[in-house]
Order: sequence, then C-alpha cells, then structure tokens
Amino acid sequence: MTLPAESRTQLTPDLNICRVLNGMWQVSGAHGAIDPSAAIASMLDHQRAGFTTWDLADHYGPAEDFIGRFRRELSSTQGSESLASILAFTKWVPRPSPMTRQLVEQNVDLSLRRMDVPILDLLQFHWWDYGDDRYLDALEHLSELRDQGKIRHLALTNFDTEHLKLIVEGGIKIVSNQVQFSLIDRRPEVKMLQFCREHDIQLLAYGTVCGGLLTSRYLGRPEPGRRELTTASLGKYKQMIDAWGGWALFQKLLAVLQDIATAKQVSIANVAVRYVLDRPAVAGAILGVRLGASDHMAGNARVFDFTLDAADYDLLEPVLGQSTDLYQVIGDCGDEYRR
Ligand SMILES: NC(=O)c1ccc[n+]([C@@H]2O[C@H](COP(=O)([O-])OP(=O)(O)OC[C@H]3O[C@@H](n4cnc5c(N)ncnc54)[C@H](OP(=O)(O)O)[C@@H]3O)[C@@H](O)[C@H]2O)c1
Repeated sequence: MTLPAESRTQLTPDLNICRVLNGMWQVSGAHGAIDPSAAIASMLDHQRAGFTTWDLADHYGPAEDFIGRFRRELSSTQGSESLASILAFTKWVPRPSPMTRQLVEQNVDLSLRRMDVPILDLLQFHWWDYGDDRYLDALEHLSELRDQGKIRHLALTNFDTEHLKLIVEGGIKIVSNQVQFSLIDRRPEVKMLQFCREHDIQLLAYGTVCGGLLTSRYLGRPEPGRRELTTASLGKYKQMIDAWGGWALFQKLLAVLQDIATAKQVSIANVAVRYVLDRPAVAGAILGVRLGASDHMAGNARVFDFTLDAADYDLLEPVLGQSTDLYQVIGDCGDEYRR
C-alpha cells in the first residue's frame, strides 16, 4: 500500500505530515491490553505504509517510550537516515502549579529522553484551569526552550478561541491547536476555524470517528449500554452523542453516511474523516490506533481516494440540522475539560 501525494500537507514549512495521524492514546491501557512487541511491529508497518505522523502525550502510558523503541528499531534495520521520516507530536499536560523554568525544562527533557529524540518536533500544551494564569509562565518558558533548540514548534491542545487569542496577542507563536472535531462535535466551526485561518494556525482534529461509533460497526445496532463501551474513547464519545441528539438521531446520521459511502465505494469512517479533513484550517485528523490489537490502515487509506460534493452535504444537512448545538451545551473547544 502506498498513500497518494494528497495524503501529505505542510503543518509548518519544515513539518510535512501525513493528514491521517496515528493516535497513541489507545496504548495507554484505557483501551485494552497492548503487547509492546506487537505494537512496535505495527508502528513499523504504519511507517512503511506512509502513516508517518504520530500523536501522543506524556501521560499516554508507554507511548513516549514506544516512540523511542520504534526509532531505535527503525534505525538499526534501515539506517539513521530513515528517522527523518518519523514525526512524533507529544503533549505536556501538567497539573496547575508554579510553572518554573526548572519544572518546564525537566518535563521537556524527560520527553526527549523517553522518545530518544534530539528535539521535540511539536510540543502540544494543555491547561486545566483558566482561573490560574500560570499557563502563561509555562508558555514563556516553552518558547525559550524552542528558541534554544529543544522544541521545533510550540502548539496547544484543547484551548478555546478566547485563550488562544490571548496567547497569540501576547506574542507567543503557536502553530496548531488539537481539538475534538467531528460530524457530531462541530464546535470549532463557531469561532475557532475563523481565528485559526486569520492567524495561520492549523487544527489537528481528534474524535473524528467517535472512538469507532461513527463507523459501520454501529449501523443498525441497538444503543450500547455502559458495559459494551469497552474503551475510554467509546465511553467519551457516547456521552457526546447523547448530548448531540441521542442514539435514534445518530442512527439516522449513520444511515445517510452509509448511502454516501456506498455511492463512493468507501466506508462510513472514510466519509466521517473526509468531512473533517475538508474543513478550513484542518491540517489532519488523528485516528486512534490500538497498535498490534486492531488494524485499519488499508481502510483508512481510502479517505484519500474520493471527494465530498454539494449533493453529499445536502444529504447530511437535514440530519445535522436536527441535532443540539454542542457549543451551546458545552461551550467552545476543550471546555469539557474545565467544568
Ligand atoms: N488532546 C486530547 O485531549 C485528545 C483527546 C482524545 C484523543 N486524542 C488523540 O486522538 C487520538 C484518537 O483517539 P480518539 O479517542 O479520538 O479515537 P478515534 O480516533 O475517534 O477512534 C479510534 C478507534 O476507531 C476505530 N476505527 C478507526 N478507524 C476505523 C475504521 N476505518 N473502521 C472502523 N473502525 C475504525 C478503532 O477501533 P478498534 O480498535 O476497536 O477497531 C480505533 O481504535 C488519540 O489516540 C489521541 O492521540 C487527543
């Protein structure tokens, strides 16, 4: 399998990414057991197939260590030059506390060591409490560490438009914000997209297939109970679907998606991901990968084989129009983490 040229985009002039990123929350332990050796073998398969961009975090269990081991294995089999093709975007998610230069640098150094990289390609910063403005101290120190060569680019995750604006207007250069964005959660449409376009900031979207709910696996299925929602993602996005309009409306959406997918000879997941990739300012969609446990590479590659046209949007709109506006219920991007 080889991915076409359209699978790539420039996140920044020096970071050429695959627009379907491999999400590593799924190795954290909250999505079932992962066998480390099988996971590394699957990482090598993803890399070979062209899925060369990884999304992870300091708190996703062994994810940063997996990047380190994966790099060492790739280097030993294919030479150190091959490492240039891997991009690994981690996050720092600290508990609010004094954000001293020492603390910030210690955490960056820890990620560098675990991932076995000379520089962090992208560091995505998360903050839990806007009432505590020490996030601005952290971002100042992170900017210095970027200027000193420990981080290539500074980014955010789950920031709302108001605080993103504050940061940017404070003179801190941010290249991307990672937010939940899907056919169910269209909150970024309200303010975030426009601000990002005006300030050359890209979005990395997660939740595009709602942990697997927004796929043919759930078409025509009765509403799953809590015991059937066996991964942390399924639980998280089922709650979103409940707030959005509930299972009966969700089934109507899946049925329309199936019609579109059948006409294009692709899958419901492909249509759901294509929809998000086509929104302005969206650089990529992060799809969770249960490395070594399940594999959707060939299926997900099909997202680059087709386009959505006006007739497809006309089919979707009547169903989406019946849903509750999550911006009204939850607030802007990431507000669910700060309630
Ligand atoms: N910044 C944040 O706060 C945040 C929050 C959540 C996620 N994320 C990032 O986003 C990534 C994605 O995680 P997510 O929770 O949003 O999950 P997701 O990508 O919506 O769902 C992933 C699951 O969907 C299923 N799937 C994927 N492709 C499929 C296909 N073509 N057909 C059928 N099923 C398919 C797989 O389930 P099976 O494995 O069961 O087959 C997979 O494990 C995470 O790993 C993480 O990197 C970030």
